[in-house]
Order: sequence, then structure tokens, then C-alpha cells
Amino acid sequence: MTLEWAMSLLLNNPEALNKVRVEIDAYAGKDKILEESDLPNLPYLQNVINETLRLFPPTALTVPHESSSECKVGGFDVPCGTMLLVNTWAIHRDPKYWEDPDKFRLERFENGDGEGFKFIPFGFGRRGCPGTRMAMRMVGLTLGSLIKCFEWRRISTEKIELSEGPGIAVPKVEPLEALYRPRELLHSVIAGL
Ligand code: HEM
Repeated sequence: MTLEWAMSLLLNNPEALNKVRVEIDAYAGKDKILEESDLPNLPYLQNVINETLRLFPPTALTVPHESSSECKVGGFDVPCGTMLLVNTWAIHRDPKYWEDPDKFRLERFENGDGEGFKFIPFGFGRRGCPGTRMAMRMVGLTLGSLIKCFEWRRISTEKIELSEGPGIAVPKVEPLEALYRPRELLHSVIAGL
């Protein structure tokens, strides 16, 4: 799902797509497929994933938690045993914390603007997602490989529809359709097999 949102956002922002491709070509070797060890050298790709997870967090509402003792949250008294759901989607789009929250803007992650509790796609604390690092590596490697190996463009001049449908992992209403063709690299990789 995150890959589909990321690719849709990039196809709607071709200059960003081009910038990621330039970064990958420059820092991940022109003649080889993408490897996990390349990922730390690709901060712009990382920003794409972060901005995708900010706009379309797969877990829009975190899994339910329950207070194990009486506590205060945001000034409210919460009795012991209360169910607590965190609305990640709303926090990620709150104009109090994000400038132009509905805009796809990769630069916001360059200034450390994604730090703290306003960016929580994997939850946080002791029950935060234990798969965070694995997920970031898997998404980085797959998205980076799709960009490195193929040329992508929209099927029409119209922007891709970005409506969210119901479902636990916030699917796109319209599945992504796009045009792609292999880049030179893929020909040489296949020829070398
Ligand atoms: C883009 C991918 C992923 C996202 C956005 C994501 C997000 C989340 C979120 C928001 C939670 C709830 C955290 C909370 O309630 O505070 C969670 C829990 C969890 N995630 Fe992930 N996750 C992803 C991938 C994975 C992967 C790849 C694994 C395993 C390999 C994994 C394993 C788990 C487990 C076991 C929990 C429950 C942790 C607990 O309750 O103690 N997740 N995840």
C-alpha cells in the first residue's frame, strides 16, 4: 500500500521523481541493481517514504491501547482501563504542526521537521512497531529498485486521483495505473544473468 501511495505521489510530482532517480544514479552505482547497503546514501528517497507515510499512514488509527493506571492525556483525566486510540492521520495533517499539511513537500524532512511526536507512522514507546527498520528497508529497496530499473509516467496528463478508501491499511480507492518501461540498466543486468 505504501509503495502504491509513494509511486502515485511521485507520478503527480515528476520533478521529485526525477530528483530521486538522479540521486539513485549518482550514489547507488549506474551499472548494478540497488542493494540494501545503498540506502543510507539516499536521503531524498528516504524523504519520499517519510512524506508518503505522513500523508497516508497505513495505520491511520493505531491499534487500541488501554491505560493501566489513572493518567492525564492532553489535559484530560483518563481513568484506569480506558481504551485509547491515537488518530495518526489527524496528527500528520494538523496545521498546528505542519506547514501546508496536505501538500507533498519533501523538503520538510530536510530541516528535521519530522522529529518528535507529530510524525508517528510506526506508533511510539514500548508498543511501537517492532518492524520499523525492516519495513523502512523493504519499502526503500523496492521503491528505489522500481525507480532505478524503470522509466515511469502517468497514463494521461491528468493527475492521479488520491482518494482514500475504507480499510485497515487505508487503500487507494482507484488502484494505481501507470506506464513504465525498462531502463538501460535492466537490459544489461538481464544480459549478464
Ligand atoms: C510500512 C510498514 C509498517 C507500518 C506503517 C507499521 C505500523 C505499525 C503501528 C502504527 C503499530 C502500532 C503501534 C502503536 O500502537 O503504538 C504497529 C505494531 C506492530 N507492528 Fe508494524 N508497521 C509496519 C510494518 C511491520 C512489519 C514489517 C512488521 C514485522 C516484521 C511489523 C510488526 C508489528 C507488530 C508485531 C506490532 C505490535 C507491537 C505491539 O503491540 O507490541 N510491522 N505497526
